[in-house]
Amino acid sequence: MSVEGEIMNVLEAINGRRSIRAFKSQNVSAEIIEKLISAARWAPSAGNIQPWEFIIVRKPEIKRRLAEAALGETFIEEASAVIVVCANENRSFEGYGMRGKTLYCIQDTAAAIQNIHLVAYSLGLGTCWIGAFKEEEAREILNIPHGVRPVAIVPVGYPAESPSPPSRRPINQIVHYETFEVETFP
Ligand SMILES: Cc1cc2nc3c(=O)[nH]c(=O)nc-3n(C[C@H](O)[C@H](O)[C@H](O)COP(=O)(O)O)c2cc1C
Repeated sequence: MSVEGEIMNVLEAINGRRSIRAFKSQNVSAEIIEKLISAARWAPSAGNIQPWEFIIVRKPEIKRRLAEAALGETFIEEASAVIVVCANENRSFEGYGMRGKTLYCIQDTAAAIQNIHLVAYSLGLGTCWIGAFKEEEAREILNIPHGVRPVAIVPVGYPAESPSPPSRRPINQIVHYETFEVETFP
């Protein structure tokens, strides 16, 4: 957690952030949500098209329906706010055709989502990136128009758990030198 008045080191945030799936009932202020969105919009995007859209959900009934759409992940309902991050496929298509629609807008949105996670963590909040949800159901609940795709449901709240870090693949298994080889380290 950040110490008041000190800015958390970026590596500390990257390494310390965890997916949080239990939240306290404490309210997350509108100012804090604004900080998260502000961080999101400074993410890089292909051609600076910024194809992201953010739906902030506070109403318990909408959170409940989103939790249902997310295959019963009920901790979504516990979160003070839920940010549904969408990719505006139309904007990216206009700039880059099918590559923009199918790839860039997802990459751009993912970068924005990661910024939300890191800044939330640096402010002492917990978040979880939820990708497993029935897209059509989420679309209907939130009135998302055609050409805009919901990419992630991100519950935001004060954490009520402190999970230990899940393991990561070791560097020597994921780095390839010069060409892609199965045996990576000489
Ligand atoms: C694209 C994506 C989709 C995910 N979907 C879910 C999900 O539907 N439900 C969930 O509980 N966690 C989900 N997660 C969180 C991952 O389970 C989590 O990031 C991973 O286990 C590593 O744990 P950590 O975030 O604490 O480092 C998702 C993460 C990503 C990046």
